[in-house]
Amino acid sequence: MKIGLLGHGVVGSGVTAITDSCAVKKVRRLEVSRILVKDEWEMTDPRCTTNVEDILSDPEIEIVAECMGGIEPAHTFVRRALESGKHVVTSNKKMFAAYCGELFELAKENGVSIRYEASCGGGIPWISNLTRIRRLEPVTSFRGIFNGTTNYILSRMARTGSDFAQNLAEAQKLGYAEKDPTDDIAGYDVRYKTAITAMKAFGAIVNAEEIPTLGIADVSADDIRWASENGYVLKLFGAGRNLDDGVSLWVMPVMTGDQQVFAHITDNFNAVESESPTLGPAMFVGQGAGSLPTAHAVVQDLLDIYQDQDAEAAYAERKTVNNDTVCARFYVRTAKPEAFADVCETGIGNGAFLTKELPLSELLAMMKGCGDEHVFAAMVME
Ligand SMILES: NC(=O)c1ccc[n+]([C@@H]2O[C@H](COP(=O)([O-])OP(=O)(O)OC[C@H]3O[C@@H](n4cnc5c(N)ncnc54)[C@H](OP(=O)(O)O)[C@@H]3O)[C@@H](O)[C@H]2O)c1
Repeated sequence: MKIGLLGHGVVGSGVTAITDSCAVKKVRRLEVSRILVKDEWEMTDPRCTTNVEDILSDPEIEIVAECMGGIEPAHTFVRRALESGKHVVTSNKKMFAAYCGELFELAKENGVSIRYEASCGGGIPWISNLTRIRRLEPVTSFRGIFNGTTNYILSRMARTGSDFAQNLAEAQKLGYAEKDPTDDIAGYDVRYKTAITAMKAFGAIVNAEEIPTLGIADVSADDIRWASENGYVLKLFGAGRNLDDGVSLWVMPVMTGDQQVFAHITDNFNAVESESPTLGPAMFVGQGAGSLPTAHAVVQDLLDIYQDQDAEAAYAERKTVNNDTVCARFYVRTAKPEAFADVCETGIGNGAFLTKELPLSELLAMMKGCGDEHVFAAMVME
């Protein structure tokens, strides 16, 4: 089966590394026959081309694997591949979170499938386990650590007592964080994955921008120290719950109890947990990023298509994000603590305090109106 690969960066080169050298017979039958690169100087392999038509108009290519990233032109290329009757595998969470509804419809109309294991949870595998659970029963909720870069930064801050900027620089040096780390540290990467998980777990297509999202850009060494002195570990969470009227989805830092499994997930690892009626809680841990772990997920998707595993059905429907049921205590640190006087329960010092239990929506409104754009908040989860 011939495959056209779009993008030959970290993930794309991992895909060719696996498909070119794997001894498994079925994988040997997956032949990456063309690779799209951007510039002539990147044509390091005889299969490379800078003309996407060499892939999209080649009738022998049956699957397009999109590992370019970004919204455009990835979205247009994926659309065109589906329209011309090619299956698609993508690792691109940003594009897929924005267009999954439209792309499922297009795949259905053209009798092909679109798969996206690598877009969410990297090599864990998370999406295929949710598929298995949903064959038997609904998934009621999910939560967890979806981003390896921020987990690396937070666990290193906890271990060394050093500050955020220093650890972000270290993560960039190691290639965990990109030059522009905004998507990771502002929580947008987790937001895309939360939206994709809601689609798989609940059959809910949401507007990802409706998901309230707080990142870790303003976390301080003092926040981390307070957490460890008080039996907590700080993690960035994405979470969701299926409701009768919509879906509850949020992304924010969480003070998780230091006896919880999540507290022991360190460095660039991810850990995500689903909850369903008979299976109960099921946790999946693994490398959420990296060339080969992510490429492993792409190749698994390619194999599923090759083996004609039941194609992804376009069962999902549009739902609104509704966080009315999310109530918790929060850790807050701000230069304007007076704006939170009504909800403050325990003062900690240096503008930090614990709130009484209150709705997430109330906290978000207070943060927006408090006049401190660097206010930091984390949900307390015993
Ligand atoms: N890295 C990971 O661990 C990981 C994990 C899970 C998911 N993902 C997702 O996988 C996707 C790829 O990530 P990556 O880390 O492999 O990124 P990357 O290293 O930047 O690779 C992307 C490649 O695509 C190329 N490209 C971009 N636009 C192109 C165009 N119009 N035509 C031809 N080539 C083009 C880029 O070329 P230039 O460099 O010249 O722009 C680059 O070589 C992203 O959506 C990312 O979010 C990555």
